[in-house]
Amino acid sequence: MAFAHEANDWRQYKMSWYDPHRRLEPLEQEVAVVDAGLVALARAGVLPHAAYDHDKLLAHRAAVEEHFEIPWTAISHRMQRLLYAINAIRRPRVMVAVGIFCGNTFISNAGAAIGPGACYQAERLIGLEIRPAEADRARRNVNRFRDGQNAPFPAEIVAHDGLVWLRDCQDVIDLLYLDADGPGASGKSIYLDLLMAGQHAFRPGALVLAHNSVNSAHTMADYLAYVRHPAHFRQSVNMIVDDQGLEASLF
Ligand SMILES: C[S@@+](CC[C@H](N)C(=O)[O-])C[C@H]1O[C@@H](n2cnc3c(N)ncnc32)[C@H](O)[C@@H]1O
Repeated sequence: MAFAHEANDWRQYKMSWYDPHRRLEPLEQEVAVVDAGLVALARAGVLPHAAYDHDKLLAHRAAVEEHFEIPWTAISHRMQRLLYAINAIRRPRVMVAVGIFCGNTFISNAGAAIGPGACYQAERLIGLEIRPAEADRARRNVNRFRDGQNAPFPAEIVAHDGLVWLRDCQDVIDLLYLDADGPGASGKSIYLDLLMAGQHAFRPGALVLAHNSVNSAHTMADYLAYVRHPAHFRQSVNMIVDDQGLEASLF
């Protein structure tokens, strides 16, 4: 089973990657669009319910704006809310994010468990970035969320190839977030390789989130065909809330 959930106005909703904190629409509209998506995920059985703390999301957003150095990002406010909410609802014990660049994608997921938006205690939140300088920046950014956090701090930024890390992973992964891009024109075709490398770590109920299901649908075609096949994943939903998109797949 697989389907697309589409916000009517996603083609008109356009952010500037170099001005990611600018509000593009009234807050109520952003909430309504994302909540409709969460309800669709809950109805499809991908999430247990659609409820999360809206004020905590705003506290998380304010802390990211205050503390993170973000040279650019394609994570819109809608996508930030969607990622935060999915994590806040699913509450992964172990969350792994691959291809985290400056850490904004990582914290959009991990912010449900660390910082002022925290609503549960995670055990491990791992961010993987292959470029050491970007991993260093992401680590500096994420460490600014340590203040007020009860020890131990579960977030860990690792400068490593996600393919190798996932292949060698001996933990159970409850939520895997994919955002790496492969060399040259291969781009997001690396997603299927990453999925294969980490699949041994999934148990029934694991969630896999793949960014760029809309704008990179072409290079992700093999990945999308795989997760949308009922023999591989129980459910997969293309969440078209903006022009990037997120494929949310239930193992
Ligand atoms: C385009 S960025 C993601 C940006 C993100 N969508 C955002 O809007 O903030 C993709 C990142 O994946 C990293 N990457 C590429 N291949 C990787 C791999 N095999 N393992 C880990 N990171 C990788 C790149 O270095 C890059 O920083």
